[in-house]
Amino acid sequence: MNNRKEEKILVTGGAGFIGSHLVDTLIGEGHEVFIIDNLSTGQKQNINPQAKFFEMDIQDQQVEDLFKANAFDCVFHTAAQINLRKSVEDPIFDAKANILGGLNILENCKKYKVKKIIFSSTGGALYGDADIVPTPETYLAKPISPYGVAKLTIENYLHYYQQVFNLNYTILRYANVYGPRQNSLAEAGVVSIFITKILKGEQPVINGEGKQTRDYVFVADVVRANLAAMKNEPIGIYNVATEKQTDVNQIFQLVSSNFPDKKIEEKHGPAMLGEQKTSCLAITKIKNELGWQSETALADGIKLTVNWFKENYAK
Ligand SMILES: NC(=O)c1ccc[n+]([C@@H]2O[C@H](COP(=O)([O-])OP(=O)(O)OC[C@H]3O[C@@H](n4cnc5c(N)ncnc54)[C@H](O)[C@@H]3O)[C@@H](O)[C@H]2O)c1
Repeated sequence: MNNRKEEKILVTGGAGFIGSHLVDTLIGEGHEVFIIDNLSTGQKQNINPQAKFFEMDIQDQQVEDLFKANAFDCVFHTAAQINLRKSVEDPIFDAKANILGGLNILENCKKYKVKKIIFSSTGGALYGDADIVPTPETYLAKPISPYGVAKLTIENYLHYYQQVFNLNYTILRYANVYGPRQNSLAEAGVVSIFITKILKGEQPVINGEGKQTRDYVFVADVVRANLAAMKNEPIGIYNVATEKQTDVNQIFQLVSSNFPDKKIEEKHGPAMLGEQKTSCLAITKIKNELGWQSETALADGIKLTVNWFKENYAK
């Protein structure tokens, strides 16, 4: 293992949910951390005061000035338009942020000789309703949303930049990440959506029968996977998940059980058209090659998340 210290690191999307936790950990390890974020879904209060923050879009020309002035050792590319439904409504907007923005980051990595890039990709949107569950990285990625197409496109570009320009990369395909700071406005974050509904005194609504399953991984575990990728420098694709399926009804029960003083009814609404039934990712590869596995049990992660929202909701 390569235990390099005090690197100069750029985190795109460092004001966001996953990016900001990553920044906190990198700073805790003594690294010099820079953030690019346009604050479209990210929040100023997430930004670690010890990080150097640049409010800009990853598509901007000014991104180059930052690369030019700072020889980054490593780039974590987490910035993205993350709303799958929005990508269907406006695929051009999605492609600008997620393909052209990503490409701008890669071009600068190449030009300014960054040693390594770690890309936040997705498992669920790439594998879809797979017939192999838990789904391994070798499963054919055939995305059926512009969001998934854009993630796969950047994965393909990474392979090209590595082969032709020697830019080392690790692709981390996350399952459904949850935890403190997750934006409850994002449709993916069912845990934070239910928590904020309950805190507001509103009724959480489960889509359809609530039998659709996902693989929920806690944000601190996702950060550890990013750190493992930085330290071990593997080139390739790794799922970051738990290999466990949980349905929305179970999430509702787990969240509700953290509000013993409230009587919360289990209410179901109409099913969402075309919603994926199952998503669960295999983690044999990351376990064997990076020694990573998720450490946070779902009930514990949800408790930590509820407590965070209880403390921070009023702010
Ligand atoms: N949360 C999940 O369950 C999940 C699952 C799979 C993959 N991912 C990926 O992980 C990454 C982080 O997601 P998150 O859940 O933390 O979402 P998030 O919305 O909290 O973080 C994304 C950040 O990127 C910033 N951003 C968006 N577009 C930008 C642009 N054009 N220029 C500069 N900054 C921009 C946002 O302001 C935000 O701070 C994303 O790439 C996402 O696709 C997340």
